[in-house]
Amino acid sequence: MKTSATLIIICSLFIDSCVEGIWSKTHVKLNNNLPAETLRVHCKSRDDDLGIHDITRSWGFSFIPHFLDGTLFSCNFAWPGQLHWFDIYEQSRDQEECTQCIWKISPKGPCRFNGTTGEFDACFPWSPSSRLW
Ligand SMILES: *[C@@H]1O[C@H](CO)[C@@H](O)[C@H](O)[C@H]1NC(C)=O
Repeated sequence: MKTSATLIIICSLFIDSCVEGIWSKTHVKLNNNLPAETLRVHCKSRDDDLGIHDITRSWGFSFIPHFLDGTLFSCNFAWPGQLHWFDIYEQSRDQEECTQCIWKISPKGPCRFNGTTGEFDACFPWSPSSRLW
């Protein structure tokens, strides 16, 4: 009881992150946009290992972002001859941009759907491959 009362008080100080960050889920969806390959994805956060998924078309996951800016999901992306790494959800980068974060995974890197343009034009390079698992 005491904990939830404290939470409500903190929430009222940060009403936006309270409403958007605590109570609603964020969905991340990955679409395979490789020319003719199955995309193997392995995503982890600090607390969760989402396992290995072989994506022919699309796959996704949902979570409730951490109250104070903490949520990070990193993924390995593999297909024959290639292995890459990218932070597919980084709260400081993404929380203002999407609660339905839809990505197109192409050989050059991931592009997120941009609600302003209606295109997958929010493109990022692969991260340096220093955190592969
Ligand atoms: C989305 O599109 C708008 C309009 O072109 C652009 O200003 C904005 O930077 C884009 N967002 C991202 C994350 O690339």
